[in-house]
Amino acid sequence: MTHKILVLAGDGIGPEIMEATELVIGALVKRFGLDVSLEHALMGGAAIDDCGEPLPASTLDLARRSDAILLGAVGGPKWEKIDRARRPERGLLALRSELELFCNLRPAVLFAPLAASSTLKPDVVAGLDIMIIRELTGGIYFGEPRGIEVAPDGTRSGRNTMVYNEHEISRIARLGFDIAGKRQGRLCSVDKANVLETTELWRDIVTSLGDEYPAIELSHMYVDNAAMQLVRNPKQFDVIVTSNLFGDVLSDLASMLTGSIGMLPSASLDADGKGMFEPVHGSAPDIAGQDLANPLATIQSLAMMLRYTLDESAHAERIERAVARTLDKGYRTGDIYSDGMQKIGTRAMAEQVVTALGD
Ligand code: IPM
Ligand code: MG
Repeated sequence: MTHKILVLAGDGIGPEIMEATELVIGALVKRFGLDVSLEHALMGGAAIDDCGEPLPASTLDLARRSDAILLGAVGGPKWEKIDRARRPERGLLALRSELELFCNLRPAVLFAPLAASSTLKPDVVAGLDIMIIRELTGGIYFGEPRGIEVAPDGTRSGRNTMVYNEHEISRIARLGFDIAGKRQGRLCSVDKANVLETTELWRDIVTSLGDEYPAIELSHMYVDNAAMQLVRNPKQFDVIVTSNLFGDVLSDLASMLTGSIGMLPSASLDADGKGMFEPVHGSAPDIAGQDLANPLATIQSLAMMLRYTLDESAHAERIERAVARTLDKGYRTGDIYSDGMQKIGTRAMAEQVVTALGD
């Protein structure tokens, strides 16, 4: 069966990392028999320039009809001045919400040859392998009421609402237990239950679900402590499950443990395992169009797509081995460069991965 993939390159470095990733797709199709068809559509700033909307109805429609979505990055200074409701990021949030992609998987894995690229001491991060599970369609990102109000005396107030219902908490928590069961069996639920009632409920629900998973070692941690523990002793974690906002912050933090945010892929899945796959990093407008961006986060997002949604794990493993091999050979983009390595650009990095597919 032909898998239908929708490609949304987006803005900034999006188009070049996507072109690089398409080289890998092309090689898997040509040399290893992967059966996919690609369709391209506009989203984010590119779509605003085209039709005034960050998520055009035609793109959403294609997204619903495809088997999986590969996304580059969205946003940039060019669109920062326009009305908040029409900014590129809103397109991304709308896509997550419309497709009910509530489960965001953000693995933070350190490739051994990159231990020196982390700002932390190599022995603190060597062998690091954490899975952060971020709730993606609820919490303060989507809660109502929200907005900026002006009082009669002219004082402005901004408001957002952090809200989770039982169903939203238990479905993401269950995934946390299931995924921990396939790894080292340790789940850490991160909240702020000492202050926020939303997360008091979160902790209650996760705790009671724990009874159904006796084989999983469940722990709870306040988010401030979790941030500290992630830099103090990150290897204490196996799987972290947390809310939308906390997951946003902690996943950027965890990315630096692995050397560069340019390395980290992500998967955003719905209840049936269908989803969207994107690098954790943003559109990096400062280096866009210069062949400097690291394409490995997007290439590994492709691997996650093949594993989690398209049921093509042999191809996923082939990509992951090729990425590891390419790093072993000493090839580096600027963000992961260290002395003695060979510095190459976006496209050349993808070409090296393509070469290593057959290794
Ligand atoms: C992320 C990003 C997005 C988020 C932005 C671009 C809306 O930071 O995917 O982590 O906050 O979710
Ligand atoms: Mg983020």
